Amino acid sequence: MSVAVEFRNVTKAFGPVRVLHGVGFALQPGRVYGLLGENGAGKSTLMKILAGYESPTTGEVVVDGAVRAPGGGSRAAEAQGIVLIHQEFNLADDLTIAQNVFLGHEIRKGLFLDDKAMREKTRQALAQVGLPLDPDTRVKKLIVAEKQLVEIARALARNARLLIMDEPTATLTPGETERLFALMAELKAAGVTIIYISHKLDEVERTTDEVVVMRDGLLVAREPTASVTRRQMANLMVGRELADLFPAKLPAPAGEPILQVRGLTVPGWAQDVDFEVRRGEILGFAGLVGAGRTELFEGLLGLRPRSAGTVELAGKAVQLKSPRDAARHGLTYLSEDRKGKGLHVHFSLRPNLTLMALERYAKPWLNPAAEQAALRDAVQEFGIRTGSLDVRASSLSGGNQQKLALAKVLHPGPSVVVLDEPTRGVDVGAKREIYHLVQRLAAQGLAVIVISSELMELIGLCHRVAVMRAGRLQTTLQEPHLTEEELIVHATGTR
Ligand SMILES: Nc1ncnc2c1ncn2[C@@H]1O[C@H](COP(=O)(O)OP(=O)(O)OP(=O)(O)O)[C@@H](O)[C@H]1O
Ligand SMILES: [Mg+2]
Repeated sequence: MSVAVEFRNVTKAFGPVRVLHGVGFALQPGRVYGLLGENGAGKSTLMKILAGYESPTTGEVVVDGAVRAPGGGSRAAEAQGIVLIHQEFNLADDLTIAQNVFLGHEIRKGLFLDDKAMREKTRQALAQVGLPLDPDTRVKKLIVAEKQLVEIARALARNARLLIMDEPTATLTPGETERLFALMAELKAAGVTIIYISHKLDEVERTTDEVVVMRDGLLVAREPTASVTRRQMANLMVGRELADLFPAKLPAPAGEPILQVRGLTVPGWAQDVDFEVRRGEILGFAGLVGAGRTELFEGLLGLRPRSAGTVELAGKAVQLKSPRDAARHGLTYLSEDRKGKGLHVHFSLRPNLTLMALERYAKPWLNPAAEQAALRDAVQEFGIRTGSLDVRASSLSGGNQQKLALAKVLHPGPSVVVLDEPTRGVDVGAKREIYHLVQRLAAQGLAVIVISSELMELIGLCHRVAVMRAGRLQTTLQEPHLTEEELIVHATGTR
């Protein structure tokens, strides 16, 4: 069952850009490792090499004492029991869940595909991760958290001996996360080695035996988890002492609301929701996944049908038809689904930044030089780590894609911005920068709405926090009621 793995002096270059500089370490079977590092440190790249999705430029991966032959791809790695759960989902949207789970590993009966067996195995794996969906459901119908669980089910159905999880809980509810942790404990007891990549250091502390820290493409530390504090983990990642995560709060602004929403109803998701936000205000939205927060705002932006409600922006009634239309009215939205609805990952960085503000560059023809200058500024301002400005968005690390998505929604110069899970996949240092950025924007008079599953983020950053449960806005909390306990009580409806 158990598998022994070793990296020997692994380097990786993409063209002229070197991202791994000679990584060497061995993993013991049946242990849980936390792999830590800043955005762009090389975690996902190293794990893609281990799982066969990339080959090392130089160096070797040794599995059970034998050097792995080059060129086998992910299938050869999976045959060795090494399975990666991707950070950026790798599912085929048009296929069903069962087809995705068995893609490339179809079960056959003679010459034919054994659909029945595959469906049944898929059903079992889905039950294991607590997702009671029909295996015939098409993946494009799923919400982000469900896609994440399907990725995990897919790995389970492959009988992994070494399971790599690249930020698996970024989109899960606390309940789903707990279930995943229980599953990890079961797998560990069965001898499976687990590598767990996460920027949520509390989870790393709870679930791992050892932490391995990468910085700038090198391994810089390896410690038993029990011997380091969270603060020490963070400092090891960034290589210096980190200052306080949140900026001091500014006083709540007075004045007329810039955005006022009354009776907004998004059928099936949100019922009769009222809220408003002022210039300079940071308004949070808390709630469990499925509470309807994302869908409420998708309805507001015209991405989903609304059946009732009025929206006023700067005192003027508007009917927003699309995110682009909303941007013209001064409201932009950062989607929680950055690969699906946020970025065009197969495009280069430049159009990704400027797409919603193209009018600015069309006088009357597009001015690529001005766009390129804007890109250079954004990369600087948002600390986007990239080897070159001329790469596709898909080649950025997960956290750096998130920073690009953030730059994109701020680029049109909105007066209201809605940020749905703005720090998802972002490292502690960059999180701190985003919090300070949000506050600077608010200080300049922007109204900021933050939807987040991280209660500490809402408490640390927001003037007020609206809490949704089952499609209804339950209450809006402010100091001194802005506490974890009160947020949980209203989000879950239990005491
Ligand atoms: N296909 C590629 N082409 C060019 N550069 C790439 C490619 N894939 C990764 N990189 C670069 O390699 C570096 C390491 O990226 P990687 O995805 O491994 O980081 P990471 O540690 O997983 O970060 P995060 O925490 O943001 O997920 C980044 O600078 C990234 O831009
Ligand atoms: Mg990554």
